Amino acid sequence: MTSQRDLKIAIIIMIITLITGIVCYAAFTPPAPEEPLRIMFQNKGGKVLFTHSVHTGDYSIDCLDCHHNIEDDETYNCSACHEETGDEDLPSRADAFHAQCKGCHEEIGSGPVECNSCHLK
Ligand code: HEC
Ligand code: HEC
Ligand code: HEC
Ligand code: HEC
Repeated sequence: MTSQRDLKIAIIIMIITLITGIVCYAAFTPPAPEEPLRIMFQNKGGKVLFTHSVHTGDYSIDCLDCHHNIEDDETYNCSACHEETGDEDLPSRADAFHAQCKGCHEEIGSGPVECNSCHLK
């Protein structure tokens, strides 16, 4: 038979477990990532899915290989410098993307290089 005392102990254990659970959840829930996991580019050629975290993680590409930057080691949107229309010195946003994305895939001989392997209809 359960005594009053057993019941009290059971309730105390329940409360401790609950508090521990809440504390652990608060302590170990990862913060929102500072860099994008994946980016869906909407554009006239058809959407392009770019797995940002896979490129930096699994493929171990250095941030600054893509976020090439002349002034500091920060990351910026490419369009901070590459505008819709470019010129000889500064490629347009679309040319910059094609050159960098496709350029690397061609250079290393893997990763998509055909239009419709990047652009989804
Ligand atoms: C393979 C190329 C590539 C690599 C490697 C890469 N990025 Fe990016 N990253 C991009 C592209 C492309 C965008 C989208 C830029 C745009 O929309 O103009 C982006 C966007 C971002 C953004 C959001 C836009 C901004 O700058 O505020 C952050 C933050 C970022 N990257 C951080 C990082 C960090 C940190 C690393 C290294 C751990 C890294 N990136 C590695 C290509 C790359
Ligand atoms: C702070 C300004 C700035 C940002 C941000 C920037 N670029 Fe550039 N980019 C330049 C300038 C200036 C040039 C031309 C001079 C040079 O080649 O360095 C250039 C050239 C390029 C080229 C041609 C390189 C070559 O060797 O011919 C590519 C490709 C490129 N950028 C891609 C990107 C991509 C993709 C992003 C975003 C992930 C990006 N850039 C972000 C300033 C920037
Ligand atoms: C510095 C080199 C490099 C750059 C820059 C780069 N990639 Fe990649 N990409 C890779 C490698 C390596 C793979 C893996 C190929 C494999 O698994 O055989 C890959 C694979 C991919 C894949 C197929 C697998 C996946 O992860 O989804 C897509 C799609 C892709 N890249 C899109 C892009 C786009 C869009 C950009 C430009 C914003 C880009 N890549 C820039 C190196 C690069
Ligand atoms: C490696 C991936 C990749 C390949 C291969 C690729 N593209 Fe793209 N394309 C992109 C990305 C990334 C953008 C830029 C999206 C943005 O500006 O947000 C883009 C942009 C475009 C745009 C929009 C240009 C603008 O001014 O708005 C067109 C059109 C386009 N691509 C056509 C093509 C065609 C045609 C081919 C084949 C010859 C091709 N793309 C191959 C990734 C790719």
